[in-house]
Amino acid sequence: MSNVDEEKREVETSKLLSENIEAYQISQDNASNISTDDDDSSEHVEPATNELEGSETEEQKEKEIKKIVSRCKFRQEYVDNNIILSVNHLKQYFFFGAGPSRFKLKAVHDVSFQIKEGECFGVVGESGCGKTTTGRSIIKLYDITSGSIYYKGYRIGAGSRWNEKEIKFTKIRLNKTIKELNEKLQKGEITKEEFEAKKNEETTKANDIIKVQKEKIKQIKYDNKHVNPKLMREIQMIFQDPIDSLDPRMTVEQIISEGLQIQGFRNKTENHKKVVEALEKVGLIEDYASRYPHEFSGGQRQRIGIARALVMQPKFLICDEPISALDVSIRAQIINLLNDLREEMGLSIMFIAHDLSVVKYFCDRIAVMYYGEIVELATSDELFKHPLHPYTKSLLSAIPKPNPLTEKDRQRIVYIPSQVHDYSKEKPSLVEIEPGHFVLANTEELEKYKVEMAELDKKAQ
Ligand SMILES: Nc1ncnc2c1ncn2[C@@H]1O[C@H](COP(=O)(O)OP(=O)(O)OP(=O)(O)O)[C@@H](O)[C@H]1O
Ligand SMILES: [Mg+2]
Repeated sequence: MSNVDEEKREVETSKLLSENIEAYQISQDNASNISTDDDDSSEHVEPATNELEGSETEEQKEKEIKKIVSRCKFRQEYVDNNIILSVNHLKQYFFFGAGPSRFKLKAVHDVSFQIKEGECFGVVGESGCGKTTTGRSIIKLYDITSGSIYYKGYRIGAGSRWNEKEIKFTKIRLNKTIKELNEKLQKGEITKEEFEAKKNEETTKANDIIKVQKEKIKQIKYDNKHVNPKLMREIQMIFQDPIDSLDPRMTVEQIISEGLQIQGFRNKTENHKKVVEALEKVGLIEDYASRYPHEFSGGQRQRIGIARALVMQPKFLICDEPISALDVSIRAQIINLLNDLREEMGLSIMFIAHDLSVVKYFCDRIAVMYYGEIVELATSDELFKHPLHPYTKSLLSAIPKPNPLTEKDRQRIVYIPSQVHDYSKEKPSLVEIEPGHFVLANTEELEKYKVEMAELDKKAQ
């Protein structure tokens, strides 16, 4: 990449960050005069519908609310479709500062994907795009800002920001409607009776929406605190940093068995047996159990991290760049190890990586992330056959070629969003361009991508 391109990219990056900050400050400024078109309204593309429509009496409404809330807690359709994990409209914001200088960083902004049982799902993107944050949100290291996460049909995490905003915007919408009705009354366009009737109707509708949202918030808060620990035990994460994620004051045995003890397994001999089994699974020996993390090489520490996850007998494993800190020969070992474990234990895996070459052969499907959003999602084969989003193309162009003759001619594609996208007229959304192949685009881009796809097919023939 040339220096000029690097500079351009830096400018774009800082612009993206400052947009986030500016947008929040604008929303804060507008908060006093309660405007619907501030930054927050972008999170409210679809206002909530009145889910209590049709229920007349209070009793009927109460019954309906109970049904709605329990539908949120468990989704049978995920179980029926073998979906082990479903992440829906996940948003994870971090807030900094206080008062007028408070700003938020949208680390993950509206990410949705589903992982099937036994599948290996890759998440790729550049540094800081929110991959780790997504993983950490799934294992509940953060209280998620908005959206929901379902594991085996059960909601294991949810954020209430959308619901809180919905209450706020419903009140704003109601005030606006009443104001308009008042104006009509003043002008004599409607009678006093019509005004009262319409006002009552709108108020009841708004109250119903607010009531449902308040119940949902209550349930979200309760559910977040009362997730089944047995279910959560099935989800384990191999952390990105093999050095920092291991406590230097604990022996390998203590590190690996810590999770077991937290979960209530107190039998020392049993736990030792499980630790040794886990160590052997990752190619280490029993003697290592009494040693401290600093006595190991990087690759061995990574294996200890894997053993710590495996000892809990996970069904779903989040591997956060498990090989990026390792040299090439050990990388292959770890990938092979994960592959073996996947077959042996029937694991479903979410594999986070920096570059596409790593996930190409290991993952069934790949999601490409850029600045907290998924820009493209498809099966590995399809993504390499029909890369559509300019950022995916840029990632692909970064993969070195093994042949030195063709490597010399490899052209790097630099992704500069403002040069390739014009979202001033229409905002993009994640659309399914082909069955199973999603790309972030607006209507104009979608047409362009369809033509590109046909051309790629022609070339391949
Ligand atoms: N606990 C936190 N508090 C505040 N900001 C955070 C926190 N964790 C992550 N971030 C910010 O969120 C953004 C996404 O970080 P994240 O660690 O998810 O990136 P990543 O895609 O995993 O990057 P890498 O490939 O370098 O690991 C970054 O801008 C980071 O500074
Ligand atoms: Mg990371």
